[in-house]
Amino acid sequence: MSAQPPNPTEISPPLLEWFDRTGRAMPWRETRDPYRIWVSEVMLQQTQVTAVIPYYERFVRRFPSVQALAASTENEVLALWEGLGYYSRARNLHSAARRIVDDHDGLFPTDHAQVLALPGVGPYTAGAVLSIAYEQPLPAIDGNAERVLCRVFGIEGDARRGEARKTLRRLATEAVPARRPGDYNQALMELGSQVCLPDAPNCGSCPLATLCVAVRSNRQHVLPTPRQRPKLQRCYVAAAVLWRRGRVLVARRPSEGVWAGLWELPWMEAGSEIECPDALVPFLRDAFGLRAEGLAPIDHFSYGVMNTRYRAAVYETRHVRGRARPAQHEAVAWRSPTELEGLIMPAPHRRVARRLAR
Ligand code: ADE
Repeated sequence: MSAQPPNPTEISPPLLEWFDRTGRAMPWRETRDPYRIWVSEVMLQQTQVTAVIPYYERFVRRFPSVQALAASTENEVLALWEGLGYYSRARNLHSAARRIVDDHDGLFPTDHAQVLALPGVGPYTAGAVLSIAYEQPLPAIDGNAERVLCRVFGIEGDARRGEARKTLRRLATEAVPARRPGDYNQALMELGSQVCLPDAPNCGSCPLATLCVAVRSNRQHVLPTPRQRPKLQRCYVAAAVLWRRGRVLVARRPSEGVWAGLWELPWMEAGSEIECPDALVPFLRDAFGLRAEGLAPIDHFSYGVMNTRYRAAVYETRHVRGRARPAQHEAVAWRSPTELEGLIMPAPHRRVARRLAR
């Protein structure tokens, strides 16, 4: 039995009423400053609200305006971003701030096309900032809002492609109310993250349940249509804490790709956990021209980057000979554990650095 989808204009009244009752306090909800809203929306991409809050607060304290951000160095920005991941977001934010100062008199643009032309700004960020800060009736569809809309309207198929994508965009646009479009967008995302959960939606407390095609046809578990996800990769890595006179070797990654420009300990991928330690000494020779001796395990842990789950083993070793010549890195340095605090490092490497400093 198929249920009729609701009229798109029916969504916003019950949703806003629910949001007014239950919406959570968040620091960026206390401002209309487009700069702050933009910073928050960039941080919230791929990252949970609770993880973002302390980063957001530190960031806007250090850079209270787009001018302050534009006047800073990329390194200062990355230092405040350390641990949040997806560092190209920080680089784009910084270069977009400079663009706003140079080309838009320091005011976040109100023109949709000009906003979309800023580095790192796609339809989601443009819609979010323009609706929240400037009350423009544009949709802002993150993964949570997408799931809600697919269920409410009963949209079948992969919502990121083809016909399903077009249908979603059209209905999403028609559903945005002329009044309070920013609150509406935030309400939709919040409903997706708090109530309309992927596996166990809490339809009993959903303000849209009576309108929802998925609820009315009891298809919450098949809507949205599961997407073909890239298979999760698994990978073993071995990292070296290579000591020389109280300092360890760190290397700066190339300016393109994952963790671009960040400092890391030497590490290598391996086919299996067994292979790791044996390959580490030859790796240090090939990648840095250094001779090392002795290997002692000091830590192991797991972490994820994009689509890969890493199992990392960390070994201490001693430098015996050679001057570091990086084959794959932009620079190398020897740093004491306390000096490592001054470098920007990806989260798993920071974990090891903190351990050394204890
Ligand atoms: N996810 C991304 N931006 C959000 C916002 N402003 N409110 C709730 N969830 C969000």
